[in-house]
Parts: sequence; C-alpha cells; structure tokens
Amino acid sequence: ATRPLVDRFGRTISYLRVSVTDRCDFRCVYCMSEHMTFLPKKDVLSFEEIDAIVRAFVARGVRKVRLTGGEPLVRRDIMELVRKLGGYLGKGLEELTLTTNGSQLARHAEGLAAAGVRRLNVSLDTLDPARFAEITRRGRIEDVLAGLEAAQQAGLAIKINMVAMRGVNDDEIEPMLHWAHGRGCGLTLIEGMPLGEVGVDRVDQYLPLKELRDRLAARYTLTRLNQTTGGPARYVRVEETGGVLGFITPMSHNFCESCNRVRLTATGQLYMCLGQEDMVDLRVALREGGVGALDGALDRAMLLKPKGHDFVLDRSHAEPALTRHMSVTGG
Ligand code: GTP
Ligand code: 5AD
Ligand code: SF4
Repeated sequence: ATRPLVDRFGRTISYLRVSVTDRCDFRCVYCMSEHMTFLPKKDVLSFEEIDAIVRAFVARGVRKVRLTGGEPLVRRDIMELVRKLGGYLGKGLEELTLTTNGSQLARHAEGLAAAGVRRLNVSLDTLDPARFAEITRRGRIEDVLAGLEAAQQAGLAIKINMVAMRGVNDDEIEPMLHWAHGRGCGLTLIEGMPLGEVGVDRVDQYLPLKELRDRLAARYTLTRLNQTTGGPARYVRVEETGGVLGFITPMSHNFCESCNRVRLTATGQLYMCLGQEDMVDLRVALREGGVGALDGALDRAMLLKPKGHDFVLDRSHAEPALTRHMSVTGG
C-alpha cells in the first residue's frame, strides 16, 4: 500500500512541481533581472534522475506533476522527458501538465498532446505587442499567439496566467477577460510575489486582487465555483462570457493551510515552500545513495515543510525576503 506524504500540519502532498531548467528566453520584469547567472549545467539533473524522482513521488501518492522552469520548453530534448513521464499517467499519476511562456509552443503542441498532456497554463500579461516586449524584455507576442493557436488545434485546454501589476497592465483586465474567454481559454489573475532581486518596484506595482474582483463584480455577474484544479486559485464563472476566471492571492489572502505541493529545482533541491528556504537535496541523496535513498529523503523532507510563506511587501523591506528567483523554484 502507498505510504502517503503527510507533513507535520496534516497536509498531504499530491502535487509535484518540477523545474526542468532555470533558463528562459524571456526576462519578465517581475521574475528575473536583466542579467541573470544561471545554474551550472553540470549540476542540472539528467532526465533519468528526474524520472527516478518523479517515480518515487508517484509511488508515494503524488497525482499531479507540473513541469515548470524557467521556461520548460527551452530545455534541450524536453519532449523526451515529457514522453517518459507521460508513461505514468493512469498508473498512479492523474495529470501531467506544464506552465509555459508559450514561445516554443507552436512546435511542441502536438507532441505534448500525444504524450498525454491535456491542459497548459500559458503566461500572458498583456495583449499589446509593445507592452509585451517591455514586460518580457525580449519576447515576441506573435510567437506566443502562434503557440496558443497550435495548442488549441492540438486539443489542449489553455489557462492564461496574468500577473496583475498596477500601472503596467491593470487597464487590460477586462480586454484580456474577453479575449481569453472568447477563445475558450480560462484566465487566472495573480498577485506579484517578492522573490529575488528583479530591479523593479514591487511595492508600487502591487495590486491586491480584491480590488480587481470588486471592479469586475460591478460590471459582470461572477458566480463562485467550488471546483479546484488542486492549485491555489479560487475560481468564478463570468456569466456574461461563460468563461472561468481564477484568482491567486498569495499576498492578500494566504492559502497555505491547504497547501498540497512541493517543488523540485532543476538541480535537485526539493523546496518545501515557494516562500521559504527549507529543502532537502535529492540530487545528493540520489547521487550518493541511489534510488533506494529517495524514499527516506522524502520522509525527511516532510518534516521540514513550513506552515506557510511569510512574504511581506513594504518599504521597510528594501531587499526581497528571498534571494532565490522565481525562475529557480518554478513558480
Ligand atoms: P493549476 O493546476 O491550473 O491550478 O495551476 P497552478 O496555479 O498550481 O500553477 P501555475 O504554474 O499556473 O501557477 C500560477 C501562479 O500561482 C504562479 O505565480 C505560482 O507562483 C503561484 N503558485 C502556485 N502554487 C503556489 C503556492 O504554493 N504558493 C504560492 N505563494 N504561490 C503559488
Ligand atoms: N509573482 C507572481 N507570479 C509570478 N510569476 C513569475 N514571477 C512571479 C512573481 N514574482 C508567474 C508567471 C507564470 C507563473 C509560473 O508564475 O507569470 O505564469
Ligand atoms: Fe521566463 Fe516565465 Fe520568468 Fe517570464 S515569468 S522570465 S517567461 S520564467
């Protein structure tokens, strides 16, 4: 029988996020700084190592695996890993999915669908090409739009992730809602979190989603849905568009008490919380003890999972709480 992964607060871990690379072809302003030092390639887990770790997690009751980055689709031969992990679907694993910036999606959409991926979360913070170039610093919106098109052609369900930023894209919430829902995509709004030094003023840009929700509720009929995807978003249906709208509110409304997830970095550190330092090094466990050492490492990890993050966003905290960038932990 499976011995589930349960932490000290009684939370069961059923969702593993796997960052396959900390690299990315974009440099989104809230995620990276202009000049990034990436992790040394020799420290990056091989596909065999990632596979062994995922297998250990699935054997311990993980039902959902999400590949993240950086940008997962910029890792060389990534489809090899996707196909390998797709083999666990129906054998304990219920969902294999990705969070992507969409830039490489056009050429991978078919392969993802064939490997058993059913839905994707695609980051898109604006529909304006010039603004897109500013926010991502080096992305081209045309590539993402082509990627979305190809993904839908391949039958993949799409949820758009939009980080809401005051003075940056807060005038585009309604247009994005109509655009996404008009294409049969979901839309999830996200509060920016202070991870890593990125060189923009996060305090100025912070936009509590309560404000947007009230603004939208004045114009649309929002019906609360009890569905969850096993992630932190809370969903409503927008009756006027018929689409689903999600809110992820790590700053204004902490959802840690129902946390069900842990995160593997590209170099094999298992972080127990997005906003804390507690981790177990699975690369060391694996390289020194072999696959047999993983189970014990997971047990040790569970004892370390903290109650929650303690992100704070105010002027008295000149430095971000965590120096680790979002692109390392994978969001
Ligand atoms: P679904 O499976 O569609 O529910 O996806 P998800 O929300 O779990 O994943 P996604 O990669 O789309 O993440 C969207 C946003 O939620 C990102 O900004 C993540 O950093 C944030 N997020 C996901 N999980 C957590 C969490 O445990 N804590 C915090 N603070 N933020 C999280
Ligand atoms: N705060 C909130 N969300 C972020 N993302 C990246 N950096 C941050 C941040 N600092 C989002 C991306 C992507 C998801 C994985 O995380 O837009 O959709
Ligand atoms: Fe790349 Fe995603 Fe970070 Fe943007 S948010 S720089 S697309 S990893």
